[in-house]
This record gives sequence, C-alpha cells and structure tokens, in this order.
Amino acid sequence: MTRFPHLLAPGRIGAMTVRNRLVMSPMETMYGTPDGLPSARTRAYFAARAKGGVGLITLGATGIDNQHPETPGGLHLATDTAIDAHRALVDAVHEHGAKIAPQIVHAGPDGLGPEIFGVPSLGPSVIPSYLTGRPSAEISKQQLSAVFDLFKAAARRAVEAGYDGLELHAAHGYMLLGSFLAPQRNRRSDDYRGDSARGRVRVVLEALAAIRSEIGTALPITLRISGYERVAGGRPIHETARMAPELVTAGVDAFHVSGGVIDRLVTGMVNGADDGDEINIGAATAVKEVVDVPVIAVGRIHDPVRAERLLADGRADFIAMGRPLLADPDLAHKLQSGQSRRIRTCISCENCIDAMEQRFSVDCAVNPRTGKERELAAPRAARVKRVIVVGGGPAGLEAARVAAERGHRVTLVERGRQLGGALRWACVLHPENQPFLRYLRDEIRLSTAKVILGHTISAKDITTMRPDAVVVATGGHVALPTIPGAQLPHVFTGPRLRELLAGHAQGDDPAWQRLAAQLLAGWRQRLVGPAAVRLAARTWLPIGRRVAIIGGDLVALELAEFLAGCGRLVSVLEAGRDIAPEVGNKRRTEHMDRLDRLGVGVHVRAAVERITPHAVAFTPAGGTPRELPVDAVVVAGTAEPDTSLFDAVVAAMPDTEVHAAGDCTGLGLIRKATEDGARAACSL
Ligand SMILES: Cc1cc2nc3c(=O)[nH]c(=O)nc-3n(C[C@H](O)[C@H](O)[C@H](O)COP(=O)(O)O)c2cc1C
Ligand code: SF4
Repeated sequence: MTRFPHLLAPGRIGAMTVRNRLVMSPMETMYGTPDGLPSARTRAYFAARAKGGVGLITLGATGIDNQHPETPGGLHLATDTAIDAHRALVDAVHEHGAKIAPQIVHAGPDGLGPEIFGVPSLGPSVIPSYLTGRPSAEISKQQLSAVFDLFKAAARRAVEAGYDGLELHAAHGYMLLGSFLAPQRNRRSDDYRGDSARGRVRVVLEALAAIRSEIGTALPITLRISGYERVAGGRPIHETARMAPELVTAGVDAFHVSGGVIDRLVTGMVNGADDGDEINIGAATAVKEVVDVPVIAVGRIHDPVRAERLLADGRADFIAMGRPLLADPDLAHKLQSGQSRRIRTCISCENCIDAMEQRFSVDCAVNPRTGKERELAAPRAARVKRVIVVGGGPAGLEAARVAAERGHRVTLVERGRQLGGALRWACVLHPENQPFLRYLRDEIRLSTAKVILGHTISAKDITTMRPDAVVVATGGHVALPTIPGAQLPHVFTGPRLRELLAGHAQGDDPAWQRLAAQLLAGWRQRLVGPAAVRLAARTWLPIGRRVAIIGGDLVALELAEFLAGCGRLVSVLEAGRDIAPEVGNKRRTEHMDRLDRLGVGVHVRAAVERITPHAVAFTPAGGTPRELPVDAVVVAGTAEPDTSLFDAVVAAMPDTEVHAAGDCTGLGLIRKATEDGARAACSL
C-alpha cells in the first residue's frame, strides 16, 4: 500500500487521462534553439522528467506571436515550421508515458517587440513592461482580433504537433491576458474595462471562444490564473471563484490556480521560503468549491506528504510542482517505489531564477544534471577505477556519489568527523539547505563508496594508495583583513565562530569556550547537527548583545540573520559596493527583506579602521569617521581558492587523472560545488 494513494492515482482533465496527479508546472528554461524551437537539450530535459514518472508536463511560456517574444529565443508555436520540432518533443515525452501541454501566451505589454523588432508592445492600456519599463501601446479591438487569430493558429499547431492539452496563460497580472485581468494594469473604459470583473475577464472568454472555434474539443484546455493577486489594487480574493463557472462554460477543462503578480524578481509568482508553503491553496479551494472540472494547485507544495494531504482533503485534484522537479526529475518514481526519503529536495536558493539573468539558462544548485541531461548522463563506466575523493563537502559528496553510481570503487576521505563540510554551517544559517545535506549523506551511505572520517590525507598518502583517479574537493580558505584590535577577546572570525558552534576550542580560548568544546567533543560531535546548533544557540549563545559583522558576503549576511534571530542587535559593515555579490538579484533581495525584518543595519563602502574594546571605528560611505558601540565583533573574511593539495597531488602523480572540485578553485556556493563534483565524476 503506497503512502501516496491520492497523488499516485490516475486522473482526468477533459478527455485526457493522466497516470497520476503530479503536474510539472510551466517553467521557462531558455534551453530552446536561438529561433525559439525545442532543441535536443529541451527534449532531454523533459524526457528525464517524463521518465521520472510525472503525470502531466506543462511546457514553459510558449509564444504565439514572433513579433512579441517574452524572452529572446523563448519557445514559440507561432509558425507552421515550428510544428516538427514540437512533435519531436512530444514524442520524447510520450515515450515515457507522460502527457504534455504547451503553455501558450501572448507577451502583450511585457514582450520584447520594441527591443528586438522596433514595434510597440501591446497592452490593455499604456503601461510599463515589468521587465524593461518601456510603455506599451493600448491594443485596439482590431489588433485584439488579430491576436485571437494567433491564438487559434497556435492551438491548431499544438494539435498537429500531437500535444495532449493546452494551457492558456492568464496568470500573474502580466503578458496580454494576465494584464487585462489585473485592475492595476487595465485602465480601459470600453467593453474590456479594468474597473469591473466582467470587463476584465472578457478577453479570456473571447480567447477561449476563438481557440474552441478552431480546434473544437480536440485538446483539453487548462487555464492558468492567479487566484489572488496579492497586491494593492489587484483582483479581489473572491474574483476567480466568482468567474470560474462562466469560464467553464467557455471551454476551460481545468483551472491551474497560481497567485501573485509578476515583478522583476518574480517575488509573488515564484515564492521564497519566507512566504511559507501551499501559497495559493485558498484560492484553488474556492474555485474547486464552485466548479466540477479539476483544479490544479501550485506554489510551494514541495513536500509530497503535503501534496497528498491536500488531495486527500479534497482541496485540489492535481498538484503542480515547479522547482521540486528541477531538483529531482525522479520524484514521482521515488514515491511509487517507496523511496520518498531519497528525493532531492529544492532548497529554495533561487539559483534557478537568478541563473536566467546571469547565465541565460536555467540550472539547479542541487541537481547539476538539470539542463545537462546528456552532458552529465553518468553512464556505467567501461573500466572500473579506484578513485579517491578528498573532502566531504558538497563537491566531494557529489563526486563520490556519481562516481560510485557509475560503478567506480570510491574512497572518500574527510578530515572532519562528519560529512558535509561548509554545507553543515550553511545548514545552520539557512535551514532549507538541511534536506540536501541529509540527501547527500544518505546517498553516500547507500552507495558502495567507502568513507574515512577524521583523517587528514597528504599527497604522499594518496600516492601510496595508488589510485587511478583523484578528486580534490578540500574547500577554499577564508582570508581575513588585517584590522587593528582584531585580536581582542570579544572579536571572532567567521571560521572561529563556526568552529565554536560546532564544538571546537583552542587552549587560549576563554574558559566557557573550552567548556563548550569539551561538552561537544569526541563521539558527541556526531550529535551536533545543524538543527541542534540552531536550537542550542537560541538559549545559549555566548556572544554580546550588540554585534558588528565586518564583511557582507552571503555567509556574513546569513550569520547576521542567525545572530539577529537569536536576539542580537546586529550591524553589517561591508567594504565593497554591494552585499552578497556572489548571488543573483532574487536571492540577494530575499536576504535584504529578511535583514530588514530582523532589524539589521547594513552599510556598504564602510571603511573599518580599528576595533576597540567597546566599539568599531569606521568611516561610512560619504561620511566622516564614527564609532559604532559594540559588545562583540565578527570578522567574516572572504573565501578564497586553495589548490595546495591539488597542486601537490598533480606534482606527485603526474600520470594520474586528478580533478579539483568546489570551492578549492574559487567560491561558487552549492551550485558550483555540485556541478564540479558531477563533472569530475562523469569524466572518470
Ligand atoms: C525557472 C522558472 C521559470 C518559470 N517560468 C514560468 C512560466 O514560463 N510560466 C508560468 O506560468 N510560470 C513560470 N514559473 C512559475 C512556476 O510555474 C511555479 O508557479 C512557481 O515556481 C511556484 O511553484 P514551485 O514552488 O513548485 O516552484 C517559473 C518558475 C521557475 C522556477
Ligand atoms: S536552483 Fe535552488 S531554488 Fe531552484 S530548484 Fe534548484 S534548489 Fe530549488
């Protein structure tokens, strides 16, 4: 008897049967060809999810009008020449038993027509694009009628390509349909007027009528809509349910209830951890209460247990997951085979979103294979090699995991008494990381890899072991600025604080630190998990009340949040021009929000001159020298590469395959660590 009877039960949307209730949420990936067609990469990415057991896949935003793309090279169904490439994608997904539907959109006011083709973008009114700020032109009724023709043509092509369904995108107050629905963007006063629910929804009803007139009932249509927009002046909470029966009459076969409105950082559409879970379930339930067609719920329903309960409670009929399927394409199969504990959980790091802006292509921090399904396929090795992996942080663990999966004989050597490296500390500061640490440790335990803990290995030792290949993943080192007064007893370095919280103390540390270290030493070390550290720190944290943190990288910020969460009054003094330069805008902004909520003062371009027993002397940006009163100071330091062991191994074993992975070649957070680890293991 499965633990997920509702989630794994077959379902139906219109005439489409789906093998289970798990839907892959539409996600733009930018994996297509430069001219917006599904590529071999797109096929491999979706085939992996289909193979992993998901019931229904929704393709990310797929344009219907090439003059108004949402992203450069974004997927489209705007020309007949696109059909073959879409059919190849459909076939790749069908091969593994999943169903697939494209999410068709007209980018409307948020299209890149002005930037790419020099044509004005088209909105319900003259409103700025959320992306570029450039204002749209108000679309005329004649132009709108031409857009309905484009919807018809795209729907016909979807049928010809063999898709199983169609998703009409009207959510998030953006693109053409969504912005007509959003009162804060729709300022019209005609039949489509923005100040009445009836006027707002008219465009969606007409688009549905147009599509139905073209394809009849050939495909079921899901309507993606923001149940509640959660923004001042947005659609009221009751509006979607109020309109739902009429939308069913117009041809909607299922509602896909998302929420929020778009902004530059997709804050309300792709919610961060602090927003909590099951974001849109209230609105989804309200819709379900008034219609007989299925309702798909989405939005931070990342835990399958939670998904199962929502279905069992009758609050939705299908559960859509987005990021969880970037993190683990095999999620459904793991549920089916009783291996739910082996699911690699999304850690809410926002890397996938930031990746689009930084690298123009989605990637996932915990799953380096996302979007690199062929490159990092990890087939069984033709020749079994003896592999030594040095370092049990995320890079070493991923390297060992993948190398063992490929059949190599792996020995993993870690100098600490626990596996996890820098990820352990990252779990203390960002608890969402914890399932990933557990996953890596569990996978290593279940693999054939041999683990040696508490052993510092040298190049000479490695030479003696005569491996066929070595992966060095020993991490970076933290460089500390020279600041007069840094040796005072109330000053901690970032690494020192980390060691302390993990239960290590040196002979010259104060008595309380040595006592704590004794209490936590030896076999008790194994009990000191990140959760225990967090819990203990709430009641026992021997660090003064007013704390200055010198440095403002990601770790420093997370430390500031941690200390402020423990009741400390924290100020951050960063010398550079920005905080957390190593992460993207979405993640950085989430930290700013959290620092704000926790009452942390943040300064950039702050020149620290010295630390005195009761203050930090510094000069703020554009100001004059000042003293910040403090009881404790943390000098966070900066992570720097450290290839000393790698260099020594290469020198000692010139004929052996040696790879470096993770922070030892430069700071790159979990994403670089896992990718380096997987790449090294795949190349063995
Ligand atoms: C990388 C990425 C791209 C996305 N692209 C789209 C899109 O093209 N269309 C859309 O309606 N939603 C898009 N979304 C939103 C997701 O479909 C989903 O609603 C959101 O991520 C919340 O679900 P989750 O918490 O399960 O990730 C995207 C989300 C991510 C992470
Ligand atoms: S990149 Fe981060 S937020 Fe995105 S799916 Fe992967 S783990 Fe989740």
